[in-house]
Amino acid sequence: MNNVRPESMARITTTELANQFIDEQIAEIRAQVGDKKVLLALSGGVDSSVVAALLIKAIGKQLVCVHVNHGLMRKGESEQVIEVFRNQLDANLIYIDATDRFLDLLAGVDDPESKRKIIGGEFIKVFDEEASKLEGISFLAQGTIYPDILESDGVKAHHNVGGLPEDMQFELVEPVRLLYKDEVRVVGKALGLPVSMVDRQPFPGPGLGVRCLGAITRDRLHALREADAILREEFENAGLNQTVWQYFIAVPDMKSVGVKDSKRYEGWPAIIRAVNTTDAMSATIEEIPYALLHKITARITAEVEGINRVLYDLTPKPIGTIEWE
Ligand code: XMP
Repeated sequence: MNNVRPESMARITTTELANQFIDEQIAEIRAQVGDKKVLLALSGGVDSSVVAALLIKAIGKQLVCVHVNHGLMRKGESEQVIEVFRNQLDANLIYIDATDRFLDLLAGVDDPESKRKIIGGEFIKVFDEEASKLEGISFLAQGTIYPDILESDGVKAHHNVGGLPEDMQFELVEPVRLLYKDEVRVVGKALGLPVSMVDRQPFPGPGLGVRCLGAITRDRLHALREADAILREEFENAGLNQTVWQYFIAVPDMKSVGVKDSKRYEGWPAIIRAVNTTDAMSATIEEIPYALLHKITARITAEVEGINRVLYDLTPKPIGTIEWE
């Protein structure tokens, strides 16, 4: 398979060009797959979602999507995968809630790289177990995009914890492998995927696992997820989701003293990170209106059990990385 983007390939910038690409790919996928079955790990991220929608259009129920919920998704994301793919697109979707498996393995582990390895390794195990239960699968679809190919030896390599085992004996189907991210988004919109899915921010493979700093506990992970949902809601209401490249909450494994209802209230701080970048190699800090920061602080401290302070991280990259671990 040729993985070099031809100079002659026009960038997909309009719905018309996206529809043309979709038609070409449907024909290509049908020719490659015939009447065989295709397996896809559907994370809910932009790339795998667009590949799923494309394959559903091309081969319908011959596609088997597996969504593994590792318990480290943002609030509502696994539910959205089920709603869009099973309920709206009538996909063949296997949903596995593996939360307990992941959180049990992660209990007490505080080293960031060990956490990443455990999450990546367990993901492969769960996916492999499901794949081996299925019969007659000949192809594996992947949401590889062009920058993944360009950067496969570079910085991003350690990030791809969701990578699948090399010994899987499947032929690959990679319909968006020559596209850049913005083109994948245009194609996703043309395929009718919800804007919230197509415009989704980059989200690390290990998910909230690297934002629940240190050893993950269920109560702190819950607080992080709820605080993060409030941040997202307020950024969307203020239109900042259109301008800020990546924003999230991190919750460290430390408590400070506070006061609530006239009583001592020990809690964790929620740290807001909101950055702008083009390539994630360097990043600047978004200037958030103070009034909005006050509102988010008030909501998080009032609504989220266990959080008693909200901090705004003003550190650009470098020197800070985007994630906290
Ligand atoms: P850093 O923290 O290195 O992040 O400045 C740069 C970009 O990469 C994302 N990131 C990850 N993505 N698996 C991923 O798939 C990971 O382990 C991982 N760590 C960081 C981060 O969210 C940012 O967009």
